[in-house]
Amino acid sequence: MEQEIKQDAEGLTFRPMTLEDIPAVMVIEHDAFTLPWTEEAFRNELTHNHFARYMMMEWKGEPVGYAGMWTVIDEAHVTNIAVLSPYRGRKWGERLLLELMKTASQLGMKRMTLEVRVSNRVAQNLYMKMGFEPAGLRKGYYSDNQEDAMIMWAELFPDRSQNARG
Ligand SMILES: CC(C)(COP(=O)(O)OP(=O)(O)OC[C@H]1O[C@@H](n2cnc3c(N)ncnc32)[C@H](O)[C@@H]1OP(=O)(O)O)[C@@H](O)C(=O)NCCC(=O)NCCS
Repeated sequence: MEQEIKQDAEGLTFRPMTLEDIPAVMVIEHDAFTLPWTEEAFRNELTHNHFARYMMMEWKGEPVGYAGMWTVIDEAHVTNIAVLSPYRGRKWGERLLLELMKTASQLGMKRMTLEVRVSNRVAQNLYMKMGFEPAGLRKGYYSDNQEDAMIMWAELFPDRSQNARG
């Protein structure tokens, strides 16, 4: 992931996640997920996993979201994406996913895939809006309630605007 800090018109900035971000990430993680990753999981991702790329989204210097993926040959596997709950519904999740897709494309990835709970209609709507299509189920994927995961895939385009369906 490139080290530059990018700021958009709304004052959102995107930059690579560092170990110093982990406490803020844990707050967002526990706010967003019923099966949150541990600090150690993020530490391992940032220090040992050469396939992993994680980015922070900040607003006025405050962490408001993050996203991550594994870049494997030419396929990007999204591991997590979350926006702190008071900041949802402002299209910031969409901005964050676009930034992740753009970064993946710049790294030479051709496709992006992810799993999403079958009950998570908000995230599914976001993914479909961004060009993802359902491609099957992983039965009982989530260990807290044995919920199925929907597998989704999207093609990545060098011009990220082609991924937004408006
Ligand atoms: C999923 C998530 C990242 C989306 O971010 P967000 O900031 O809330 O969403 P945005 O404001 O960017 O909305 C983008 C699109 O998502 C969908 N969406 C957002 N809120 C929605 C809602 N309340 N109901 C239905 N669809 C919704 C819509 O398609 C929306 O586009 P539209 O407004 O043009 O219809 C965020 O809700 C989140 O962190 N959720 C908890 C963690 C999570 O579920 N992560 C995904 C795991 S697979």
